Amino acid sequence: MDELLQQINGYKQEVESVSAKSADEVEQFRIKFLGTKGIVKTVMGEMKNVPNEKKKEFGQILNEFKLFVEAKYESLKESGDAAEEAGDHYDWSLPGSPIAVGTRHPLSIVRNRIVSIFQRLGFALAEGPEIEDDWHNFGSMNLPEDHPARDMQDTFYINTNPDWLLRTHTSSVQARVMEKQKPPIRIICPGRVYRNETISARAHCFFHQVEGLYIDENVSFADLKQTLYFFVQEMFGKDVKVRFRPSYFPFTEPSAEMDISCLICEGNGCSVCKHTGWVEILGSGMVHPKVLENFGIDSNKYTGFAFGMGIERICQLKYRVNDLRLYSQNDIRFLKQFTSAI
Ligand code: PHE
Repeated sequence: MDELLQQINGYKQEVESVSAKSADEVEQFRIKFLGTKGIVKTVMGEMKNVPNEKKKEFGQILNEFKLFVEAKYESLKESGDAAEEAGDHYDWSLPGSPIAVGTRHPLSIVRNRIVSIFQRLGFALAEGPEIEDDWHNFGSMNLPEDHPARDMQDTFYINTNPDWLLRTHTSSVQARVMEKQKPPIRIICPGRVYRNETISARAHCFFHQVEGLYIDENVSFADLKQTLYFFVQEMFGKDVKVRFRPSYFPFTEPSAEMDISCLICEGNGCSVCKHTGWVEILGSGMVHPKVLENFGIDSNKYTGFAFGMGIERICQLKYRVNDLRLYSQNDIRFLKQFTSAI
């Protein structure tokens, strides 16, 4: 009987040392040890040769051996499955799942184009805060407290401090730059502005502007016209016509609004140009001497021009977007229609 015991111990060691890397190897183990002609069956068959007085003792030993082999089989099955998932049977040549690539927002595309056109003319990028104080947004821009032109821009004020507001135009950045920098100044500043308007297809409580400011000796209205004309040609192409109309802004004198020939109907008349063939794209003018003096710039020595345009309007003309609300709804079906290199 010692022989049988030795045999069992030998098998136990063998079982213990088995490891399987695949389902095939697990199956081989099962056939060898647990199959109909397997080792466990054979060893159990030895019971008939065991003398009666030892049957109880050996029965227990054989049973334990059987349970030991079955437990090993179960654990091999688990680790075999894991190994399989982890790679042995993985087809590495399968194509990967596509990674969705985002697109730039149409307003960012247009803003980047505007900024880069002016950068080529030597304008430097400038930025200012969206929460402003009265002085930078209004006062220094020649709009004293009781000035009726303040009503042109319905302002959001900050509850906790009546001096604070959400800037109504990027002209506040002109002020921020002039208080820090001496002429020559040549800056372009894109940014978000806020006005308390009811939201509709044609108006929103926030929108985006690009401000330009150029101050040096001998800057003239001809420079303003030529600079803006260059911009329009770069932005919209050589065939687009421009016209300047006299206008009023407290911070410029003289002031002018610039129209371009309607790109949607090519001047034939449509709802975008209100059947006039022209669309207004910006306000501009020669910087008011008072504004220069507010920042200690000698208005006898220096002159300058400034302009401000709405990015949404330019975007509307370029992409024919007819509802302002689309820009902030972030509907992926809208956003993915725009592509650009910059
Ligand atoms: N700040 C003006 C507006 O928001 C635009 C403007 C800027 C006009 C600079 C003249 C000069 O309407």
